[in-house]
Amino acid sequence: MSYTRPDHYTKKAKAQGYAARSVFKLAELEERTHAVPLRGKAIDLGCFPGSWSRWLIERGLQVVGVDLKAPELAGGQWIVGSVLEVDPAVLVEKSGGKVDILVSDMAPSTTGSRFTDHCRQIELARRALYYCGACLEPGGSFVVKVFDGEDAPTYQKEVEVLFKKVRRIKPDATRDRSVEFFLVATGFRGAP
Ligand SMILES: C[S@@+](CC[C@H](N)C(=O)[O-])C[C@H]1O[C@@H](n2cnc3c(N)ncnc32)[C@H](O)[C@@H]1O
Repeated sequence: MSYTRPDHYTKKAKAQGYAARSVFKLAELEERTHAVPLRGKAIDLGCFPGSWSRWLIERGLQVVGVDLKAPELAGGQWIVGSVLEVDPAVLVEKSGGKVDILVSDMAPSTTGSRFTDHCRQIELARRALYYCGACLEPGGSFVVKVFDGEDAPTYQKEVEVLFKKVRRIKPDATRDRSVEFFLVATGFRGAP
């Protein structure tokens, strides 16, 4: 299928007023794991254009998001910058304390080299895990996108050390040919 032709999920997102089809990935991950609380605080890493943040806000969560660009979305607080440079303490301060869930849909601009894209994406996923240590309440949840590749199993083990339960899921809204999958981790054991 051509990326220029809107698919079922793109049309559905547009019809429901969401900025991106990725919203259906988060909705399905929640449906399958019940990892997203109904209220409380959330951090959304890689929040632009804002469909995950909007979904979280509509669910009753208070959201602080970080991205290279700010979403045009009311109801949350946005930090424009790279997660590789933003101090997690800033997010805790903006959130008014540690949060109940941290989500990361971050992906680098792709280069066409599967290996390079995998390495750059795993760096972002590792940074998201580092943020958990600084920002997440014990018992909290973590949802993270991962580009599959040689470092993915090691990364999954790193997540498993910090959380009681970790599930690997490829949602329906992820295109078949995509290398992405998600880890949904619950029961944060606390900062290492
Ligand atoms: C797939 S999009 C996220 C879509 C979003 N979850 C939504 O539903 O609207 C991936 C995002 O990761 C962001 N990103 C990539 N590298 C980043 C970095 N170093 N720091 C912060 N965000 C980054 C990109 O700017 C992009 O907006």
